[in-house]
Amino acid sequence: MRITRHPIIEFKRGKKVKFNFEGQELEAYKGETVAAALIASGVKVFKYSKRHKRPLGFFCAIGKCSSCLMEINGVQNQMACMRLVEEGMKVKRQI
Ligand code: FES
Repeated sequence: MRITRHPIIEFKRGKKVKFNFEGQELEAYKGETVAAALIASGVKVFKYSKRHKRPLGFFCAIGKCSSCLMEINGVQNQMACMRLVEEGMKVKRQI
């Protein structure tokens, strides 16, 4: 399952790139978001809620809900639905 249309970001599929998700090497296409690449790879849990540690995932896809906040390249609270994937990027879930 790969997202090809987005309400506010235009996807232009570029060349294949590889990025790291919690120690696992995944493939994506240059020009797609981190969220799109994770969903395409079968990753549905993007973070865990602070109080009850409940799994949270992709929700609004337009940078409005904060459900997709992840640690990207060592920086927390990055919106995976808005951030474009890059070669060698390191992505982690956060609480
Ligand atoms: S999914 Fe809502 S801000 Fe990213």
